[in-house]
Amino acid sequence: MSVATLRLVPDAAGIAQAAALLRAGQLVAFPTETVYGLGADATDEAAVAAIYGAKNRPSFNPLIAHYATAAAAFGDVEPSALAERLAEAFWPGPLTLVLPRRPLCTVARLAGAGLDTQAVRVPAHPVAQRLLAAVGRAVAAPSANLSGRVSPTTAQHVLEGLDGRIAAVIDGGACAVGLESTVVDLSGSRPNLLRAGGVTLEALREVAPAMAAAEDHDAAAPRSPGQSLSHYSPDLPLRLNATEVAENEALLAFGPAIPGAVLSFNLSEVGNLAEAAARLFAGLRWLDSQGRALGCRGIAVMPVPREGLGAAINDRLSRAAHR
Ligand code: TXA
Ligand code: MG
Repeated sequence: MSVATLRLVPDAAGIAQAAALLRAGQLVAFPTETVYGLGADATDEAAVAAIYGAKNRPSFNPLIAHYATAAAAFGDVEPSALAERLAEAFWPGPLTLVLPRRPLCTVARLAGAGLDTQAVRVPAHPVAQRLLAAVGRAVAAPSANLSGRVSPTTAQHVLEGLDGRIAAVIDGGACAVGLESTVVDLSGSRPNLLRAGGVTLEALREVAPAMAAAEDHDAAAPRSPGQSLSHYSPDLPLRLNATEVAENEALLAFGPAIPGAVLSFNLSEVGNLAEAAARLFAGLRWLDSQGRALGCRGIAVMPVPREGLGAAINDRLSRAAHR
């Protein structure tokens, strides 16, 4: 069913309207510091089910529940001592913790895909903070894109995929981090990085020295159910670690660009990884649409160093390149 998607501004009236829609079981996309989320009342089974429908998600991948405060999050899941230290260090911010559900967890079972764990996060974006406080309930939110596509970092990106499929989007401008949150599983005997993201492994290990690194490319053992290899896919094929551009190839550059490309987008001319992370998804979308219009056959991607945020950037690039 198609509905007109409201564009809301992030003032008091816009936030109040978005909160009322969420409390009424509607879907509302909202900005976080990582990417835009597709929000639903996490306590409402039907609202959570509607997320999967709007995104065309083939299966019930577990969703992250979002809260205004750590205290609210830890009302639904059981924090370990390490969880409390990580929350202290990185919340509000781009970190998601997977923890055991409490017996009286308010989050619908469907949001956790029936698992005994629940992923929780306290986002830092001021609009997300105000919205979550106004809703007063956990808000389930995957990235606000059609399943398998590049995550949205602007309200316009959200509308490109979901216009007419959701009640509203709050326009809070471009996301500052630009990559999804880091997902850490704290439900087992050893803390496990499930998804590289906005908080680096190096930073996590300052608080949690035993943190196991992501085995992202081990397709045989995906420990995070939503982590399939093919993801974030532009239509044009990507060629990674390019040192030259072929005729008819667009270029995703990092640092001083390889000359001669018909179309080029530089993630960061000065080679800054935070700038590159913030511009990655917008750059992929732009090269994909402009490149197709110009008849390009693919996108050559220059190498990006793997340290710090480069780990998450390389993770997303390899998924985008995988066919
Ligand atoms: O930055 C973000 O995390 C954004 C914003 C909106 O918060 N959200 C996001 O959600 O990226 P989504 O659904 O696209 O990715 C959630 C990731 C998936 O890889 C999923 O498998 C994993 O978290 N996940 C969620 N619940 C889990 C659980 N109980 N156990 C293991 N992995 C879980
Ligand atoms: Mg996603």
